[in-house]
Amino acid sequence: MPLELIQGDIAAQTTCAVVTAANKELMGGGGVDGVIHRAAGPELLRAIRQIGGAPTGTAVITPAFDLSRQGVRHVLHAVGPIWRGGHSGEAAQLASAYRHSLELAAAHGCSSVAFPAISTGVYGYPLEQAAEVSLRAITAFLEDHPELQVRVVLHGAGPLNVFRRALARLAPP
Ligand code: APR
Repeated sequence: MPLELIQGDIAAQTTCAVVTAANKELMGGGGVDGVIHRAAGPELLRAIRQIGGAPTGTAVITPAFDLSRQGVRHVLHAVGPIWRGGHSGEAAQLASAYRHSLELAAAHGCSSVAFPAISTGVYGYPLEQAAEVSLRAITAFLEDHPELQVRVVLHGAGPLNVFRRALARLAPP
């Protein structure tokens, strides 16, 4: 399956598109977003501020600016849900944020995309639940787009193991 899970830094990836975990105001932030903005340079913030905002569960696309030096062509700004206990549509919104990102990447001719674990930092989505929802959304998309390579970049060995176990449950070897 064209899906890999790695431990690493999202800003160090060389995929055609790299996803950042944005907020719906597209204001720039810390965490993954801070790392991506530092690597892409100040033009990235100007570009998303011009877009103005994006509803939760969607994504917008910009050029990659300085990240293009390492081969990245697009940054996808995905807006995941804030965790509110799990009964406020968070799972559907999280899946939708992944799906929109993948649709945008495919529509822009990308054959490789790297994701962080959207919503699992500041937004508080429990990692195990996020892993299942995220991997389901990605694998469902890949069934129709087997040409796409998707990499999920986890920040640490613990999160990587959580995602590995979730993937094994979805797609037993
Ligand atoms: N590479 C990969 N993953 C990372 C990195 C990195 N360099 N740094 C942090 N992470 C992980 C975190 O450990 C977490 O599991 O990315 C996941 C997402 O964390 P956040 O960046 O906090 O994203 P999220 O929970 O979606 O919150 C979004 O935070 O920065 C603000 O503007 C942003 O308001 C928005 C909110």
